[in-house]
Amino acid sequence: MTHPLETFTYRDGLLHAGEVPVPEIADAVGTPTFVYSADAIRSSYRRIERAFAPIGARLHYAVKASSNLHILRLLLEQGAGMDVVSGGELERAWLAGAPMRDIVFAGVGKTEAEQRAALDGRLSPLVDDAERLGGKNIETRGPVGLFNVESESELEVLARVAAELGVIARAAIRVNPDVDARTHEYTTTGKEENKFGVAAARVPELFAAFRDVPSVELVGLHVHIGSPVREIEPYVSAVQVLLRLIDTLEGAGDAVSILDLGGGWPMSYSDGESPEIEVFAEALIPLLETRVHNGLQVALEPGRSILANSGVLLTRVQHVKEGRLKDFVICDAGMHTLIRPAFYRAFHFAWPARVEAHHVPTAAAEHIDLPDLHPCDIVGPICETGDFLARGRDLPPVKRGDLIAVFSAGAYGMSMSSNYNDHGRSAEVLVDGDRKIVINERQRLAALLETEISPREL
Ligand code: LLP
Repeated sequence: MTHPLETFTYRDGLLHAGEVPVPEIADAVGTPTFVYSADAIRSSYRRIERAFAPIGARLHYAVKASSNLHILRLLLEQGAGMDVVSGGELERAWLAGAPMRDIVFAGVGKTEAEQRAALDGRLSPLVDDAERLGGKNIETRGPVGLFNVESESELEVLARVAAELGVIARAAIRVNPDVDARTHEYTTTGKEENKFGVAAARVPELFAAFRDVPSVELVGLHVHIGSPVREIEPYVSAVQVLLRLIDTLEGAGDAVSILDLGGGWPMSYSDGESPEIEVFAEALIPLLETRVHNGLQVALEPGRSILANSGVLLTRVQHVKEGRLKDFVICDAGMHTLIRPAFYRAFHFAWPARVEAHHVPTAAAEHIDLPDLHPCDIVGPICETGDFLARGRDLPPVKRGDLIAVFSAGAYGMSMSSNYNDHGRSAEVLVDGDRKIVINERQRLAALLETEISPREL
């Protein structure tokens, strides 16, 4: 789903996920709680798949957006592969049931231990726990389908580790195309000054240097220019850089069979913020279709475009502090629950989950034209001025005990949350039809303390 109010809708003044009124969930499991819609996840996935169907693009879900095992399983049922960026994400993808060959392993700082686990299950950190956690045959699971390699150093280490283990690592080189994705400076990844990828001009040397190394098979190119990307032109520029590079490589006798275009695909945090995914697909397909016809496999790594608007964060108002300029709506969720507003000054539409008929939101926007709204900051309990969920919003009257829904929180919400100020992490609930499934229990305080109870001398 691409818009905040598409999945979660008001009926009789009550926010619903499909048939389920979301306040029921908060009443049952408490707050803060992330609520996801299984239908929205499925249909967002299918929509991207359909948009790129003319070139048969393979989707690898970016696990970092939301790594809950049950969400991964839902996406595996849709046929998704998995894109992981750490040993932890790798184990989650595998535990959820992803075949290793359908996992691509990216990330700028892979450790040797992570590479080993990705090549041989006997070296997984879960080797002793896998069965108890529901993972089968970890010893024989085989290597991941593709390493997206970010530097020459990483490739050298990978080649050595794979040789030691007697396996072949399939790899793509992540190219830094020096293209400006025109998104937040912290999520711009495809410019020369960013730490990601290898400059296009250096890639042919790398392919040549590793051509005769038997433990790595360089089969493709990878690019990820940023996230979210709201314009089509940066993708077009990046693809053009990569296609030229493929020509150069093929001219030198190196075959490129996989082109992974990464993530960053569009969705909107406020209405109309971004063109739809189909518009991106229509611009890119003509550049790629002949190559695909000749055997190139295109892959994508969507995360946010599947999950963001498939989830809301429910938070309970603890106090309302009236000010001369505005009211502070102080909630039990904050930057420890959803860090995006604090970290990127990101906009998330937020609104009470139960409102009078004349306060049903007509749009997901910073300012809505409805009667009797009050200027408010929606803030958290954390001892930081940067701890806000939404600032300078006009809201219907709210009081202690009310429930606020923070929209578009399905991606990079739970996965970036922390224990700051010693709060346990939130619960997660998946709504599937009329079912409400707790897919993650609220973290108990005891779990935060367990690793500190018994100090030991080194
Ligand atoms: N592939 C690679 C190599 C990536 O680095 C990312 C995101 C993705 C795929 C998925 O991008 P998506 O489709 O979700 O836009 N935490 C930030 C975003 C940082 C994303 C980092 N990489 C946020 O909350 O907006």
